[in-house]
Amino acid sequence: MIDALRSWARKHTDEGRYSPVGITFHWVMAFLVLFQLGWGFYIGFMGVGGDKLAAYQVHSAVGLPILVLAVGRLGWRLLIPGPHNDADEQGVQTQIAYAIHYLFYLAFFGLPLTGWAMWSSVAEPGPLYLAGLVPWPQLPFDQLDIATRWAIMDVAEDVHHLLAWLLVLIVPLHVGAALKHHFWDRHDVLRGMIPEIPDSEDPRGGHRHKPREPRARPGSAGG
Ligand code: HEM
Ligand code: HEM
Repeated sequence: MIDALRSWARKHTDEGRYSPVGITFHWVMAFLVLFQLGWGFYIGFMGVGGDKLAAYQVHSAVGLPILVLAVGRLGWRLLIPGPHNDADEQGVQTQIAYAIHYLFYLAFFGLPLTGWAMWSSVAEPGPLYLAGLVPWPQLPFDQLDIATRWAIMDVAEDVHHLLAWLLVLIVPLHVGAALKHHFWDRHDVLRGMIPEIPDSEDPRGGHRHKPREPRARPGSAGG
């Protein structure tokens, strides 16, 4: 089974592309995480009241699927290595890109887990629902004394804020690097992360991207 999955994915990764599963994980989670960031900070500006509680419930309902997806995505990445692309040859820049990928995974787990801990530590926890539909249990903090629960709340809140601000820092770096590789260096890295678009002019079978012309470098032979 695993070998079959690997050989299916290799058809994509051998061409410098993420598999359709990897691409789906990437864009679904990118959308959810960006929504969560915007919504989370927006809630911070809301006045206290029923609307704010409802907004937190939306925040939790959208955030918990990120935890489920993170487990699936990490499992997938451990089983199926990503492709080797042009951007993997760039020494320290490549190391920074990999470090940012690890930090994303830290946030994928850390934010929902600390959010869950915050809900579970307050005295009268409201119900939690995965995607607003499937009931989600509280963490077993109800036997703890109230001081310990508030201490958990404080730590979880600090870590949650820290990770949210970490994302505010690294998302623009990540997106900026992807765009720079694509438009400036003319690397294949962004193409490897977007769904394949049928290309009727392509002689290799009509469903692959055309290779890109390398960017002309000043002083290079042949322009
Ligand atoms: C990747 C997923 C998530 C992201 C990006 C995220 C982001 C944020 C942001 C930006 C804030 C506002 C921080 C501030 O005001 O400085 C926030 C607050 C909060 N989030 Fe999340 N969140 C995520 C997942 C969750 C989940 C799954 C839950 C609950 C199960 C949750 C519960 C909370 C709570 C209770 C607060 C209020 C904290 C406070 O200021 O007292 N979050 N989140
Ligand atoms: C919206 C604009 C975005 C663009 C254009 C973009 C582009 C890319 C590209 C081209 C790669 C492949 C990098 C490589 O193989 O070296 C990649 C990987 C990755 N991106 Fe993004 N990305 C975007 C948003 C995001 C966001 C918002 C997140 C986090 C929530 C994210 C998380 C990741 C992760 C974790 C990887 C590593 C590959 C994996 O484990 O699946 N990206 N991205």
